[in-house]
Amino acid sequence: MVERQKVAIFGGGGFIGSNLGHRLSAAGYECTLLDLVDNKLKLRFGNAPYRFDRCDISADDDAVDAVVADHDTVIHLAAHVHPSAFMHAPLDVVQLNLFDALKVVDACARHGRRLIHFSTCEVYGKARGSAEPFNEDRSDCVLGPIGSHRWIYGCAKQLLDRIVHAHGLRGDLDYTIVRPFNFVGPLMDRLVRPTETDNPRVFAHFMSALLFRRPMQLVDGGHSRRCFTYIDDGTAAIQRILEEPVATRNQIVNIGNPANETTIRDLAHSMRAIYRREFEPAADVPIVDVDSRTFYGDGYEDCDRRVPDIGKLRALGWAPHFDLERTLVSSMRYFFTHRDALLATL
Ligand code: NAD
Ligand code: UGA
Repeated sequence: MVERQKVAIFGGGGFIGSNLGHRLSAAGYECTLLDLVDNKLKLRFGNAPYRFDRCDISADDDAVDAVVADHDTVIHLAAHVHPSAFMHAPLDVVQLNLFDALKVVDACARHGRRLIHFSTCEVYGKARGSAEPFNEDRSDCVLGPIGSHRWIYGCAKQLLDRIVHAHGLRGDLDYTIVRPFNFVGPLMDRLVRPTETDNPRVFAHFMSALLFRRPMQLVDGGHSRRCFTYIDDGTAAIQRILEEPVATRNQIVNIGNPANETTIRDLAHSMRAIYRREFEPAADVPIVDVDSRTFYGDGYEDCDRRVPDIGKLRALGWAPHFDLERTLVSSMRYFFTHRDALLATL
């Protein structure tokens, strides 16, 4: 590790940002965490100090430029990330995830700073039933039709990946593009009370359902498959990438756990069984079906299957350690134990 390397993390107050900022700070990096809010940082750091600067990348262009100039490495996480947002605010998704993110990319190119940019596994789109893992340099990116506007997120992220890659071709940007596969763990999204209509990602939905004794809803039969990756494995991989600037220079790198593949239906059954075994034996929550039109509205299509090829990270000595059972038990234990603080703060 380079001693006291200065790292700026845009979107550093979110799920990945708060966990990553905590890990990198503990490892001796001088981290500046930039976000609209720092409530997750307060929960993650407790009494430990951290440097937070309020920054809206959509409005504070001068601040973005100054922060980039003042740090050695920039990690860009800020984005709209919930499929419900892709469905209900598609133009906001493009604005933040593409146009505003471009300010960070351009500033890194201008100031000669290393950029670790967060793309997504959703860029790969549909597997169309194939069990072949998604490879960063060989897999096609297969998105659905324009009328299925769910794909606007993957499309915006894909275009930005292509722009970052083009900067690399021009030789004016030192970057690594990171593609996470369904991280879960402490501080992922938030718990949703029965009176709220918030629509987070699936783990937070199912955990909320169990805590509040509401039905766990399976969208379109729960047949889609995901590889859930524990956040500590994810942040360890990001630290590895940070510490390997030469090997990861101008590369795209998947982060995920291919061994943790499950259907969403099996995820619901696993979480319910774990909840009863570990936390509240009497909890009896139904698992029900809902069609995607009712759950998300018109224009939803799903990624059927996303399995990462993690050969690049394995070659750097990283491997995931949390199997699916441990991933779920650890994540659920955090939400169960901290539920009062989470509900009061987020
Ligand atoms: P998150 O929603 O928890 O974090 C995003 C953060 O960006 C939030 O804290 C939010 O307040 C902040 N933000 C939003 N608008 C902003 C603005 N205008 N200025 C500054 N900050 C702003 O999401 P996350 O799960 O931590 O994801 C982080 C990144 O990783 C995203 O780019 C996402 O697309 C990517 N990603 C995450 C996963 C995953 O498994 N969590 C998977 C694939 C890709
Ligand atoms: C999301 C977004 O693409 C990004 O935030 C990110 O790239 C990715 O998560 C990720 O975490 O890697 P997705 O996996 O579709 O993608 O998001 P979820 O909302 O967690 O949905 C997973 C699956 O569960 C989908 O099939 C969805 O239809 C289903 N689902 C969701 C349910 O069956 N019930 C629910 O209550 C919520």
